[in-house]
Amino acid sequence: MVVKITIVGSGNVGATCANVLATREVASEIVLLDIKEGISEGKAMDILQTAALAEFGGCVKGVTNDYAATANSNVVVITSGIPRKPGMTREELIGVNAGIVKNVVENILKHSPNAILIIVSNPMDAMCHLAAKISGLPRNRVLGLGGALDSSRFKYYLSQALGANSKDIEATVIGGHGDTTMVPLASLATCRGVPVTKFLSKEKLDEVIEATKVGGATLTKLLGTSAWYAPGAAVASMVESIVRNQKRIIPCAVKLEGEYGETDLTIGVPVVLGENGWEKIIDFPVSEEEKAAFKASADATRKVNQIMVENKMI
Ligand code: LAC
Repeated sequence: MVVKITIVGSGNVGATCANVLATREVASEIVLLDIKEGISEGKAMDILQTAALAEFGGCVKGVTNDYAATANSNVVVITSGIPRKPGMTREELIGVNAGIVKNVVENILKHSPNAILIIVSNPMDAMCHLAAKISGLPRNRVLGLGGALDSSRFKYYLSQALGANSKDIEATVIGGHGDTTMVPLASLATCRGVPVTKFLSKEKLDEVIEATKVGGATLTKLLGTSAWYAPGAAVASMVESIVRNQKRIIPCAVKLEGEYGETDLTIGVPVVLGENGWEKIIDFPVSEEEKAAFKASADATRKVNQIMVENKMI
């Protein structure tokens, strides 16, 4: 089966995603598209020059603004837009990025009307809501990168606190992909099936939760721009579960229509990812405190969407 994946935006996140997908041989063809002349072509060539070293079949193509080259993509990852600078919130990017994301979605759908869209651009939940609204696609074909990344960061901080291997940790973050609003589900986090609450004090666990929430901002401060290795790998894991029909449960931003008590809102919840996009929303048995935090996150996310409503963008 031919699997074609397009990544729009060949910056750090887009290129890292392409690199992970290429080395894992997830697709028959990966198209990298950017508006900046030469950047996609160069990054595709650089990735392909690792093929002999990392031993994978070369299938990455770079193009400058040529949407015809993206035709018939099964999955399209949208990373376009400006990243945040140190001290900025993701929400502050909405004015610039909403116009960019709208334009990209329209161009993509002209050539791949049935694609599954994965939105990475920030503020991600709002950008994903915009894409879900303007694309006219069934809601299971539009998802956003949030929980896959934030959960990996949660596992990292838990592994550090526990002195354990990240691979032995199971942990999930739901809610919006915002510094103050995401909800790391400490009550359900385990190390080899044992609740982490058995090993960590309340104070230590609170520290881990706080570090997770500002995980992206910490890196932005260190790097001077937003992170790419974990975001790129996280979105690649979503793409892989879709095209290989792995049915993994990964928290993603999806448009809720009554689930988790919310309607007409796009926000992170655990979903099963398979060949049809997100196929099922899983109702996790979260604590009362986490339920309240999710509600607060939903309210904050709705407020950001309101900016788009007021500007008649949705
Ligand atoms: C981050 C950006 C990708 O969290 O939102 O690093």
